[in-house]
Order: sequence, then structure tokens, then C-alpha cells
Amino acid sequence: MSKLVEPHGGNGLKALLAPQTERAEELERARTLTQVPMTSREVSDVLMLAMGAYTPLDGFMTEADWRGSCVDMKLQNGVFWPIPITLSCDRELADRIHLEEEVALVDGESGEILAIMEVTEKYATDKSLECEHVYRTLDDAHPGVQKVMEQGEINLAGRVTCLAEGEYPEKYPGLYLRPAEARALFLENGWSRVAAFQTRNPMQRAHEHLVKIAIEVTDGVFIHQVLGKLKPGDIPAEVRTRAIQAMIDNYFVPGTVIQAGYPIEMRYAGPREALLHALIRQNFGCSHLIVGRDHAGVGDYYGPFDAHHIFDTLWDGALETRPLKIDITFFCNKCFGMATGKTCPHGDEDRVHISGTRQRAMLAEGAPVPREFGRPEVIDILRKYYASLA
Ligand code: ADX
Repeated sequence: MSKLVEPHGGNGLKALLAPQTERAEELERARTLTQVPMTSREVSDVLMLAMGAYTPLDGFMTEADWRGSCVDMKLQNGVFWPIPITLSCDRELADRIHLEEEVALVDGESGEILAIMEVTEKYATDKSLECEHVYRTLDDAHPGVQKVMEQGEINLAGRVTCLAEGEYPEKYPGLYLRPAEARALFLENGWSRVAAFQTRNPMQRAHEHLVKIAIEVTDGVFIHQVLGKLKPGDIPAEVRTRAIQAMIDNYFVPGTVIQAGYPIEMRYAGPREALLHALIRQNFGCSHLIVGRDHAGVGDYYGPFDAHHIFDTLWDGALETRPLKIDITFFCNKCFGMATGKTCPHGDEDRVHISGTRQRAMLAEGAPVPREFGRPEVIDILRKYYASLA
């Protein structure tokens, strides 16, 4: 019997991708239905539903689930859920769709039909309520808030049947692992205590140190990166996957980590997103999620350890996957090694900190990046990427 954590909700994985044998016929039928265009965030959510990463959801949220997840972090049935998963459209399109109607969900950029949804509810949302609770700000300079504010006026809810997985499986062969596949791989490796390392960045030494701390106390680490859309200026996924592989090949014991990616789009909701990240990792079979400084944050909207504290507010049984909370991590010249705020007694003047912005500038200008900060094999890949942009 599997010793991995159970999928969220307690009733097994719920992957909404239709069986291969049914997809072609259903796609034919979908072409005849009303077409609902999706934003890239909504597309990423459909792909998450398809693979079972959003177990136990069976589609886009109703008003009760939307409100419950915003305000109480609970679905109507009491199951823990920290961020709403919704689909919106403009009022004119919503008016043309009647309840119980099946619609085709279409990637608004590529035009590809990805799913069929039976619309069971249409509701206007209170975007300010969503932003206040989930993002803790109404500032539309926040990239997550901005996306909520740009959503259509009406949300459509209903059960979803997915018919395609977009370009990811072909673009990232071996990296695009579905929850059932990740679980099988962990069992094959004999892992039961598995920590996930969520990232949207190439790995520098601080990331390496976080992962190595986790390796010491678990059977292995799932280096699990965001393949969906990021903010402008972030390193694109295809460069990042190579940089992470260079780190693994040169600085990790074989068999202690698995690199993979998943199709989510970042919301930058800080603490709430840390909870969603843990819930998703439970579905992938991970018993722990590494939560460092300002997890899933942006700018200075969140305190550096808000994402640690929010786990302490959950009720018993909300979530099985636990956070591995790790303090700020850096190289200290006095310790003469990697350390954290918890293990290093020295001051800021002894610590090598390089912000993402400064790092980008150093790489773009060809300036040397200190070895205390980054591994040369990783820096080399990033430098070539920045040179290609010039
Ligand atoms: S994100 O999803 O949290 O935005 P990012 O790649 O920036 O991804 O960070 C990955 C993980 O490493 C997060 O848990 C973050 O808190 C942690 N982290 C990144 N840098 C540091 C650091 N210097 N000290 C401690 N934790 C860090």
C-alpha cells in the first residue's frame, strides 16, 4: 500500500482529462458549442484540473465556493481551499449562455479547445472582496490584483471535462509530470516522506541550501517549478529548466531530487498562495512543502514570514502536507559557508545578499557574480540567455 500522503479531500485523485478514446469525438462536438475564451490564468487552471492537481475540484467554482474560499478558505462542503479557481466572461457572452448549457472552453491566445463545461451557475463577483482577502491589497500595481480586476464581469461555474493538455507535454517531455506519475515515481524510488521545492527561478545557492536542508530530513525532494506565465523580467521556463539541471548534475547526490514542472500561473498571493502550493503538493504525493522567505510574494506586499505564519491558522485536518519552514538563507563570510537567520549569529554586513534585480543587472552587463551567490555552471547558462537578449 502507498505510504504517500492521500490526495486532498480524501477520495483519491480526480484528474478531469477525458480518456484518450473519447477525446476526438468530444472535440468534434465542442466545435459546435458556444465558445468561451479563457485568459492564460484560466487556461493554466484548466490544465491543473486536467492533471488532477486541483483534486477534489470538479470544475470552476460556484458562487458559494468562490466566497467560501475567499473569506474562510473553505469550499461549501467544508473542504479547505485557499484561493478561488474561477472562470469569467463578459456580460454579453454570459447572457447568451443558458443554465445547463454545455460550452467549449477555448485558449484565448492559441484558439485551441481545451475543455467542455456544463454551466450550472452564472454570478457577478465582488472583485474587491476577493482581492482584500486573497491578496491583502487592492493596489492594482500588484500583478495578481491586476489580473482579478481585468477579469470579466460574470463568473461561470460548472463541471469541466478536459479534452487536451495544450503544448506542455510535448514541450517538456519528462518534466511535465502529472500527480499520478509523480506518485508512481516516488514509490519506485522508495520515497514516502517527500518535500516539494516550489520555484519560479533558476536555482542559486540559497535555493540549493534550502533543498539540501530538506534532503537531510526527508527521503527526497521534488524540485517543482512553475511552467505557466510569469511576470515580465522573470527567467523563461526553458532556460530555467536547463539551469536547474546544471545545478542538479553538478551539486546533488544522484537519486536525492527529481526535477519536474507544472502548468500553474503565478498569482503572487504570498501566504494564501503558499497554502495553495501545499495543497497541490499533497495531490502530487508530497508530505512537505519548503516555505522560505516571502514565498510566492512580490514587491513588499507581504512580510517575509507571513507565509510561515498562515499555516498556524489552519484547523485540524485542513491539510495533510506540512510546511518545512526555513529562515532567510545566505552565504556568510564569517561563518564561511551557507547559513540561515536561525543558524548564523553574524550581521548583515557579513552576509552575501544579491537581489533578483541586481543579479539580472550583473548577468546582463557581464559583471562577475560572486561564487558565494551562484554556481558557475548555472551562472553560465543565465549569462548566455541575457546575452541572447541584447
Ligand atoms: S516562489 O514561488 O516562492 O515565488 P521562488 O523561486 O522565488 O518561488 O522561491 C522558491 C522558494 O525558495 C520559496 O519557498 C521561497 O520562500 C524560498 N526562498 C528563495 N530565496 C530564499 C532565501 N534567500 N532565503 C530563504 N528562502 C528563500
